Amino acid sequence: MSGGRLIAIEGIDGAGKTTLARGLLMALPELVVLREPGGAAVSERVRALVADPSLRVDARAEALLFAAARAQLVSEVVVPLLRDGRWVVLDRFVDSSLAYQGAGRGLGVEAVAAINAFACGDVRADLTLYVRVSPEVAAARVAAAGSLDRIEAAGPEFFARVVDAYDALAAAAPERYVVLDGSDAPETVVSRALAALKTLQ
Ligand code: TYD
Repeated sequence: MSGGRLIAIEGIDGAGKTTLARGLLMALPELVVLREPGGAAVSERVRALVADPSLRVDARAEALLFAAARAQLVSEVVVPLLRDGRWVVLDRFVDSSLAYQGAGRGLGVEAVAAINAFACGDVRADLTLYVRVSPEVAAARVAAAGSLDRIEAAGPEFFARVVDAYDALAAAAPERYVVLDGSDAPETVVSRALAALKTLQ
């Protein structure tokens, strides 16, 4: 995959991942920015399914649905782009499942890593930008933004487990993880992320 790079943006709901993704694209228009779940037709349908507050979704089914959406996105979109040498930014990737389903839903990080290894083959993030905020700050931002989707409605203990899991993932892979303070001004978060991207060249 000559020249291509895969950059993941991670963090809890309300951290400011999407603002960061937009800022990166403004600064570097040659990037391809995709969101998870979504980014391919099949994956967008799965996104609608997992977000629907009127559905009861078993935790294992939820983990498999995210993995299925990811498998489609990787094979249909990400692998061809990387082969073309493009730099792909994913607004969420495997570590979202490790944190949300593995820790948040209590399925176990290793079990969820195993299904994601099956889903993604050898495609891994070269760099993970982790936008970190406390669960309290994130909850206030999400509440201010309006109605909650099925996962956003999971409650404070759930999000505390998710943040702990992200922190542990960052600590275990310091060569891949860049931790950005999501309570900083958006321009600061973007410029720190751009500095981290330079190290990939
Ligand atoms: P998110 O990027 O936050 O979308 P939006 O900006 O529309 O809220 O992702 C949607 C939700 O899906 C979010 O609550 C996190 C959750 N999610 C998981 O639980 N596991 C995953 O693997 C992924 C990709 C997302």
